[in-house]
Amino acid sequence: MKYDPKRVHVLLKKIAAIRIRYPLFIAILADMDRCLAESPDLREPLCMLITGDTGVGKSTLIDTFKQLHPKQNTVEGTEIPVLEASLQLPVTIGGLFSSILDAMGAPYADRGTVEFKRRRLMELLKRCRVQLVILDEFQHLVERGTRQRIEAVADAIKSLINHSGIPFILVGMPTAHAVLEYSPQLAGRFPLRRDLPSFNWLERPADFERLLTFFEQALPFEKPSGFCDDTLPARFYLATGGNFRAFTTLIYDASRTALMRGGVRIEREQLIRSYHSLLSANRKLRANPFLGDDSAIERWIDQLRGKRQ
Ligand SMILES: Nc1ncnc2c1ncn2[C@@H]1O[C@H](COP(=O)(O)OP(=O)(O)O)[C@@H](O)[C@H]1O
Ligand SMILES: [Mg+2]
Repeated sequence: MKYDPKRVHVLLKKIAAIRIRYPLFIAILADMDRCLAESPDLREPLCMLITGDTGVGKSTLIDTFKQLHPKQNTVEGTEIPVLEASLQLPVTIGGLFSSILDAMGAPYADRGTVEFKRRRLMELLKRCRVQLVILDEFQHLVERGTRQRIEAVADAIKSLINHSGIPFILVGMPTAHAVLEYSPQLAGRFPLRRDLPSFNWLERPADFERLLTFFEQALPFEKPSGFCDDTLPARFYLATGGNFRAFTTLIYDASRTALMRGGVRIEREQLIRSYHSLLSANRKLRANPFLGDDSAIERWIDQLRGKRQ
C-alpha cells in the first residue's frame, strides 16, 4: 500500500490507545472499586496501596479507573467522583494539599498557609462530591523526605482520611511501602495492597504470550505479525524484560516504520531497528535479541534459567 501520512497518523493513534485488561489488571480495578463502594458503609474508609516498578502500568490503571468514574458537570458545578493528584517534590504538607486542590481545579492552589489550604481542601472535596482520592508518585515522599517529614505528611494524610471520610489509594514505586512502616496508624487504614510486577515469561510464559497475542490482534495490520511464532516470545522477553513501557515503545516504533513503508505486518527487520534505537541503551544486553538464529536465543534463555537456579 502507498504511504499515506494521514492514514498512518490515524492508525498510530489507534495503536497508542490499545489497552489490555489482563487478569491482574482486572483484579486490581475490582479492589479499587471496593474502596469506592464499601467505604461509605464503614466506620473508617477502606484504603489501598498499589506499588510497582516504573513502566509496569500503574498510571494506566489509574486512567482506566478514572474513565470508569468520570467527572460530571451539573448545575451545581463539577462532580469529581475519583480525584487523582500526583505528589510533587519536595513533599511537604502544604505541597500535598496544593496538589489535591490543583487537581480539583482550584485557582492559586499554592496560595495561603497550610491551615488555609486544609480548610479550602475540605470544602472543595465536599463541593466536588469527591468519593475517592488517588495519589500517584507516592515514592517521592520516601525517597527524598527525612523521617520527620515522612511522619508529618503521613499524619496529614491520616487526618485527611479521618476528617473527610474519603478513602485514599496511594500509588508508587515499591519504595512507597516504607511510608506505612513509618506510620503504623496509617498502615492500619491500608489493608488492601497490590504489587504490579513485570511480565515474567520465564516463570509464567502463558501470561506473556497472551499479551503478545492480544497486541498482535489489536494492531491494525492486514496480516498477523506472528509474535508468538517460534522464539519470538523469548526475543520479546529479552528485549523488554517484560516491562510494559518497553514493550509498547518497541511495538509503537516498529508499527510506525512498518506503516510508513506500506507494510502489511511488523517484520523482524523493524523490531531489530526499534530495539536498537530505543531500548538497547537502557537494556544494555550483550546483543540485539531480534538478531541471531533460534538456537542462539535458546542458548541465551538456557543461560538465564541456569543463573536463576
Ligand atoms: N494495560 C495496559 N495496556 C496497554 N498498554 C499499557 C498497559 N499498561 C501500561 N501500558 C503501556 O505502558 C506504558 C507505561 O505505563 P504506565 O502506566 O505509565 O506505567 P507506570 O505508571 O507504572 O510507570 C504506557 O504508556 C502504555 O503504553
Ligand atoms: Mg506512572
